[in-house]
Amino acid sequence: MAAEPDPCVVVIFGASGDLTSRKLIPALYEMAAAGALPRSTCLLGVSRTQMSDDDWRGKLQPCVKRHAKRFDAAAWADFARRIYYFPGSATRAEIYPQLAERITSLSQQHGGRDNILFYLAVAPSLCIPIVERIEASCLVAEGRRWCTIDRDKMPWQRIIVEKPFGRDLESAQSLNRALGRVFEEDAIYRIDHYLGKELVQSLLVFRFANTIFEPLWNHRYIDHVQITAAETVGVEHRAQYYDEVGAIRDMIQSHLLQVLALVAMEPPTSFTSHHIRQEKIKVLDAIEAAPTDRLQDFATLGQYAGDDAEPAYHLNPRVPTGTTTETFAAIALRFDNWRWAGVPFYIRTGKRMAAKRTEIVIQFKQPPANLFKRTDQFAAGGTRGANQIIIEISPRGGVSLRFQGKVPGSGVRLDTVAMDFDFAKRFGAEPVEAYGPLILDAMRGDQTLYQHRYEVEAAWRAVMPLLGPQARTLRGNIHANYQPGSWGPPSADELLAAHGRAWHNVAPDQ
Ligand code: BG6
Repeated sequence: MAAEPDPCVVVIFGASGDLTSRKLIPALYEMAAAGALPRSTCLLGVSRTQMSDDDWRGKLQPCVKRHAKRFDAAAWADFARRIYYFPGSATRAEIYPQLAERITSLSQQHGGRDNILFYLAVAPSLCIPIVERIEASCLVAEGRRWCTIDRDKMPWQRIIVEKPFGRDLESAQSLNRALGRVFEEDAIYRIDHYLGKELVQSLLVFRFANTIFEPLWNHRYIDHVQITAAETVGVEHRAQYYDEVGAIRDMIQSHLLQVLALVAMEPPTSFTSHHIRQEKIKVLDAIEAAPTDRLQDFATLGQYAGDDAEPAYHLNPRVPTGTTTETFAAIALRFDNWRWAGVPFYIRTGKRMAAKRTEIVIQFKQPPANLFKRTDQFAAGGTRGANQIIIEISPRGGVSLRFQGKVPGSGVRLDTVAMDFDFAKRFGAEPVEAYGPLILDAMRGDQTLYQHRYEVEAAWRAVMPLLGPQARTLRGNIHANYQPGSWGPPSADELLAAHGRAWHNVAPDQ
C-alpha cells in the first residue's frame, strides 16, 4: 500500500488556463470522489481574471462534467467546497503578502498542516518570475530556515512544474537553477503525464518482476525498438502555442524520451525514486548525439496537409506564414553503452495521423539458424516474422507477444500468432487519467514518477542537434509533406527502409 498523501493547500498558478480546467481539476475531482484525496486538502487557484470563489467553481463544474470519467453531483458539491480562488497577477510581488495570508488561513480552516503544494500551470516564460516571487515572499522554508530541526515533522513546501521544461538545454538549465535557489531537488516535481500512465509504470514491473524477458533485453537478441505516439487530432485551438514548440519539444524531448528511458535503463538497485531516477539519468546520458552533418540519416520531419476537416498546418491562420514547425517527427537514436550497442531506437510522433495510438515495439532478431527457408512454408505467402513484444500504452493498454506457430494440418506451415494481455479485461479497470495519481504522489513526497533535473537536461542534449540551425535542411520541404490519416511523410518509411526495417502500423482508426 502506498503511504497516505499528506494534507496540504494546493496553490495552482494559471487557474484560468486550459490545463487547469481540462486536466488538473477533473483529475483532482476524480481523486476526491474516489476518497483518495485527503479531506483536509484544499485548492487555491491564482490567476489574473477577477472572479470570486463561487464564480470559479461555477466555471469549473461543466469542465469536470465533460472531462472527468464520471460525474456525481453530490461528490462535486463536496469537492467544490474545498476550491477557492485568488485574483492577481502571479508575477507581481505586491500580491504575495495577501496570498500568503490566504494560504495560511485556508490551511488552518481545513487542517492542511501548513503544507503547500505549488503547481505551475503557466506559460514557460512565467515560471522563473513566479519562483522568484515565491522565494521573496518567504513562503518556502523546507530545508532552509529550519534545516537543523527534524524535517519529517516540519510543514513542507513543494512545487510541481509543468512541461515544456524550457525550450532548449540552456533555458532548461536556467529554470533548474532558479528552482534550485528556492527549493531543494527533493521538493521539485517536474511532471510528465506520460509517467502517470498505467502502462508506462507497468513497464518497470514487466521488465524487472519477471525473469523471462530481462536476459533477452539487450543487443544480442533485440534488433531494434520502436516507440510511436500517433494522434489523429490536429493542433486545434493550440496552434499559436504549438507553433513555438513543434513535435520534438512537445512530445519527444519530454514524454517519449521518458518512455525510452524506462525501456532502456538498467535494473535499479531498489524500487525507490532515488535508484530509479539514477538509472534513468544514466541511460539518457548514454544517448549518442546525431552527427550534424548527416542529420537526414537520423531524422525526418513533417507537416500535415489539409483536407475537408482542417487546413494544412502551414495555412492555419494562427501560425506565421511559411512556418517550418514540425507536426511530425521520426528520429533514430542510439546508445553508447554496453547493453544497447548497435541497436537503434526509432521514435516517431505526429498529429493528424492514421490512428490514436501510443506503443512500444520490441523487435527481436531472427533466429541464428533458419530451418524454415521456403516461403511456401509461411501462411498467406508471408515472410518469416521475428518475435515482437508490443506494449500498447494507449488507447487500450496491453502487451502482445508475437511468435511463430505451426498452422494445423499436414506439412509444416508457419504463421505469426499472438499471446495478448489486455489491461482492462484482466484487471477490470480502465487506466485512470494520469494527473490525479501523480499529484497524490507529490503530496506523499514520492518522486519516482517525476523527472530529476539531470533527466530533463540529458533529454534536451539528445534532441538539440535537431532543433538548431544545422537542422534547417530537415525542414526544407516540410509543408504538407504528409496526408492526414497517413503514417507520416514517405521519408519516415525510408528512414527505416534504409536498414531493411519497417514501422509497425496498426489499422487506421475509422
Ligand atoms: C501533451 C502534448 O503533452 O500530450 C499534446 O502537449 C499531446 O500536444 C498530448 O496531444 C498527448 O497526450 P496523450 O495522453 O493523449 O497521449
